[in-house]
Amino acid sequence: MVTPFAVAQTQLAATPPMGWNSWNHFAGNVTDADVRAAADALVSSGMRDAGYIYVNIDDTWEGQRDAQGVIQTNSKFPDMKALADYVHSKGLKLGIYSSPGPKTCAGYAGSYGHEEQDAKTYAGWGIDYLKYDLCSFGKMMKDEAGDDRTKAFAMEKAAYDKMHKALVSTGRPIVFSMCQYGWNNVWEWGPEVGGNLWRTTGDINDHYSRMTEIGFSQAGLAKYAGPGHWNDPDMLEIGNGGMTEDEYRTHMTLWSILAAPLLAGNDLSKMTAETKELLMNKSVVAVDQDPLGKQGDRVWAVGPMELWSKPLSGGAKAVALFNRASTAREMTLKLSDVGASASAKLEDLWAGKVVQSTDGSYTVLVPKHGAVLLKVSE
Ligand code: GLA
Repeated sequence: MVTPFAVAQTQLAATPPMGWNSWNHFAGNVTDADVRAAADALVSSGMRDAGYIYVNIDDTWEGQRDAQGVIQTNSKFPDMKALADYVHSKGLKLGIYSSPGPKTCAGYAGSYGHEEQDAKTYAGWGIDYLKYDLCSFGKMMKDEAGDDRTKAFAMEKAAYDKMHKALVSTGRPIVFSMCQYGWNNVWEWGPEVGGNLWRTTGDINDHYSRMTEIGFSQAGLAKYAGPGHWNDPDMLEIGNGGMTEDEYRTHMTLWSILAAPLLAGNDLSKMTAETKELLMNKSVVAVDQDPLGKQGDRVWAVGPMELWSKPLSGGAKAVALFNRASTAREMTLKLSDVGASASAKLEDLWAGKVVQSTDGSYTVLVPKHGAVLLKVSE
């Protein structure tokens, strides 16, 4: 049944959310000044106009609760309402973070027992997005349910549902980002508890091996994503320095094919031209944000080479060739592999140029750990 809640949720994240999150670069050190600098950089770099509008504060903003139980910020965030006003004045939206447990993953105050109160506080500050991270609630599940997995699962669902309802009751549109690492096939029930997006895996880090382990493990999940509710293979590491340019290009290509949320996780105030080009290639971002809202999937894998395809509005397809080998490889796309005719038009989106197929196939040299992203249209 399509409930009014579900309609509101779909409109909130009609395409995968885009923006920035503090965790991957700043982790526990993030301050009000860092968040303002990120907001400034989103505007000055052109990222806001490319679609990156959420400025998301991750864990470690939380202070103690006052005598009435109202959550306070800690000294790194002197005035959350003023910060929200600042972010909004730039044409951006502000996100925050909490946990259904009593403690967040970094050991700060979570929302357990204060869900409605916290939702009201967030709405009062002007918050537009909440990442809700299981953390210590996992221990509560273990303590209360022991080996009874059905009971533990019911507790988990109820905890997410509770915060979703609390957010909706505030009357403020707040994107609900579930973070419970993909447990219990969250993609099957995330929409039921109001999730606009849900993490499908454990944490990413700034290494090619972990990024690809997460990214390529998304095969088969496409049918669970759509407007208002997205699979989330975690935030971007582009620009953090641990991968080569080709590896980061693979990261951006794969996340776009996956219709993944695009939350930059680097220090936006210190971006190289290369990082900006990777994050802001218009045609690549358009693949991720395509209004049809279909996640792509693997078409074939042969040894270290993989072909993935994503349906786009208007009948076109985005097609990615990935080379996971540690040497460059020639890869061949047969247009029939993706259901296209031999006369289909091909555009190499990273190169920004039309390319030609011969006898219904296209062969290209893909660098080590690299990717080529094509748009195929009839
Ligand atoms: C968990 C989440 C991360 C981040 C940290 C913060 O590990 O998966 O994305 O939010 O908590 O403590």
